Amino acid sequence: MTIRILEALRGQRTPTLPVWFMRQAGRSLPEYQQARKDIKMLDSCLMPELAAEITLQPVRRHNVDAAIFFSDIMVPLRLAGVDVDIAPGVGPVLGSPIRSRQDVKNLPTPTFDDAGMIAEAIRLIRAELPTDKTLLGFAGAPFTLAAYMVEGRPSKDHLRARALMYSDPTTWNTLLSWCATVSNLFLRVQIEAGAQGVQLFDSWAGSLSRTAYETYVLPYSRRTLEEITVPRIHFGTYTNQFLDLMAHGFEAVGVDHRTPLDEAARLVPDTVLQGNIDPALLFAGQDALHAHALDVVRRGLAAPAHIVNLGHGVPPTTDPGVLTELVAFLHDIEIDKLTEEE
Ligand code: CP3
Repeated sequence: MTIRILEALRGQRTPTLPVWFMRQAGRSLPEYQQARKDIKMLDSCLMPELAAEITLQPVRRHNVDAAIFFSDIMVPLRLAGVDVDIAPGVGPVLGSPIRSRQDVKNLPTPTFDDAGMIAEAIRLIRAELPTDKTLLGFAGAPFTLAAYMVEGRPSKDHLRARALMYSDPTTWNTLLSWCATVSNLFLRVQIEAGAQGVQLFDSWAGSLSRTAYETYVLPYSRRTLEEITVPRIHFGTYTNQFLDLMAHGFEAVGVDHRTPLDEAARLVPDTVLQGNIDPALLFAGQDALHAHALDVVRRGLAAPAHIVNLGHGVPPTTDPGVLTELVAFLHDIEIDKLTEEE
């Protein structure tokens, strides 16, 4: 039996395209709303049966090729003892934002008191996941985590975080190193319990210049991967200016909808590409969506292999039926015929 995602991550083409969606588990699904009602987001991530159920919901409904572990990039912070919550409709909020050298010094030791519930959730998922599907674990990259920690809540431009980076590089480096350690631990717990691949989310790295990314961020993203033994995907948005740096040490890079995949393939010629259907097209009607998806697939032929995904997460207002139909449409594409037509 072929496990399409793992084949693609080895750089091999499969007759049928592998597909999954970032944020496939979550608010677009009524069964998620039902399962999580009255339970806070971060609490639900620490309840193994519930986290396993929510992880499996989109696989059952949409027949996607991967389950992405239902958790959050902020979970390792909670496990390490940081006062963090996810406010409904807002996002991650810290009790005390980390803004000074002293704040960074006061951070708890970057270890987990107990991550048994994470391992248990992963084992429950693997026990139920069909063997032709892949369980992907994930973690937040140090910059994206630090952006939330310094700002204390979601921010568009990450001004405070970037200011700290330039004004006090030593404190910044200590903070990023702390983030790299907790995300690395989070990945290792998931892998030891059965995650078959991992994605590192650096969703907000695109607010950095190439030089800033290379100097202040990349060394820590690489450190997050230490002793990671399964295939790795690196995702960010607005990352054209340093996609080549992001690809190094990773089997695959995720590309947002702004960069056509044939252009991305020129930037990172030997790297598997993941992406990059524009989430807006999920609201544009079937004809427009199919035409766009087919264009994405054709451009993706320029890469050694292609895992179809959105350019960013599933918007909460998405009609789940549109996603189910899109997976079927993508699975029906005969890649060999498409190549011959070129
Ligand atoms: O389906 C999946 O992708 C798996 C689970 C998952 C969640 N968050 C669940 C979640 C994953 C992989 C993440 C990663 C994550 N979390 C990222 C990187 C991906 C990205 O979208 O760029 C980031 C930046 C976060 C931090 C975070 N957590 C944000 C910005 C938000 C959204 C705030 C909001 O409510 O709009 C969250 C909350 C969150 N994480 C939800 C889910 C299902 C929504 C919780 C709810 O139901 O209210």
